[in-house]
Amino acid sequence: MFDDSSSRIAADLRDWIAKAPPGAQLPSTRALVTRYAAGPVTVQKALRILTTQGLVESRPGVGTFVRTVRDTRAHDYGWQTAALGTPRNPSGRRFTALQTVANDRIALHSGYPDRELLPERLVRGAFARAARSDATVNRPPSSGLPDLQAWFATELAAVTPAGVMAPAPSDVVIFPGSQSGLGTAFQALVGPGRPLLVESPTYWGAILAANRAGVQVVPVPSSAEGPRPEDLALAFDRTGARAFYAQPHFANPTGAQWQPERAAGVLEVVRAHGAFLIEDDWAHDFGIDTVPIPLATRDDGGHVVYLRSLTKSVSPSVRIAAVVARGPARERILADARAESMYVSGLLQAVALDVVTQPGWRTHTRGLGRRLATRRDLLISAVRAHLPQARLDVVPRGGLNLWVRLPDPTDLTRLVRDCEDDGVVIAPGDEWFPAEPTGAYLRLNYSGPNPGAFPEGTRIISRALARQAQ
Ligand SMILES: Cc1ncc(COP(=O)(O)O)c(C=O)c1O
Repeated sequence: MFDDSSSRIAADLRDWIAKAPPGAQLPSTRALVTRYAAGPVTVQKALRILTTQGLVESRPGVGTFVRTVRDTRAHDYGWQTAALGTPRNPSGRRFTALQTVANDRIALHSGYPDRELLPERLVRGAFARAARSDATVNRPPSSGLPDLQAWFATELAAVTPAGVMAPAPSDVVIFPGSQSGLGTAFQALVGPGRPLLVESPTYWGAILAANRAGVQVVPVPSSAEGPRPEDLALAFDRTGARAFYAQPHFANPTGAQWQPERAAGVLEVVRAHGAFLIEDDWAHDFGIDTVPIPLATRDDGGHVVYLRSLTKSVSPSVRIAAVVARGPARERILADARAESMYVSGLLQAVALDVVTQPGWRTHTRGLGRRLATRRDLLISAVRAHLPQARLDVVPRGGLNLWVRLPDPTDLTRLVRDCEDDGVVIAPGDEWFPAEPTGAYLRLNYSGPNPGAFPEGTRIISRALARQAQ
């Protein structure tokens, strides 16, 4: 995957270096300019990349040379095994959604939208403005830039019904992405060794954050309609848990969206048990057929702790999210955030605020819904036409994923490997189950690059499945 010509030239020279003896001289800059039909600045940037990677060294006035490798001894780090002891998170699970792949692959695994779905012009403009502002040198308050806190609070207030007190800007704590907010919420509201109820299946990153916080994850079954209040009540009673992590809108991975009666039922159970609902509104900007109204707008008693991220919708480089909480919960969350990282880069906060307050942002998110609809429908048609072995129970009304059931038995590990060999990267559903998976599932993401390849991708999955049936 090459972002620019310099990276492409550096990659090509890396192959040359791999075959060259130590000390060999690279062709001159002038020769490289001719060979790659590139400008001298581009070639020099490629050489700087190789120098930074420790592959070449430049001798001023003489040239650039393949670095002499001084030490090829294999080190023995065995002592660390004794020093570190048993890992706290022994599962060693792999999470496919973060895998980066070459751009000749058909990528149906990713968790982050493709560049063409981002408001790139707004983001570039915001960075340019922020670079000229005091945000480059100022330290923001630990809870976040006041104007950004106010923006998140106002967004919720705008859809809070009469009779419910909307959150204040001071209820908002800014985080470097909601993954970080989840870790803090689990640490501050649950704590090591204590139970946290989660939907099953649920977001793999939440399982990871819970493991890191030493929290004991307790699955509650959840379907296309969300969890049944009676199942949730039973789990609270059985475990003594005081928190439930959930995604009421366009859940990752299932795409489920709770209807208002179900949401009310869940909230009632949470209140009756004196517990928290940690609401992860990760796909707030990815509504397709509906605009999600957070459950947080129905609660002013401090039961709902609300997470809202801009990372996926503004840019993966602008890792900004908010946690909205009230009362002592908010104080504990802020205290944990301070202990963790003190404050979030003011520059990134200024960029995020700039983007979401531009008139172009609304236009962008409206257009995004239409583009996601086209992609979703394209992938659904491809699955129906070319992957007849898969069952799709939920047409997601928002979000980025389809959750499909495969026939029993399917060897998912083999399927993922075979598809990868044939150029398609898929995410095995097992990664979203906090306990044993209840079936063979795939999460297919429709926001990745090249939607035109969806038919080919699904054909390849189908062929790999057919080979298992033989
Ligand atoms: C459900 C859910 N919550 C949280 C996150 C993390 O978001 P962020 O990028 O803001 O850390 C993700 C990212 O995939 C997600 O799917």
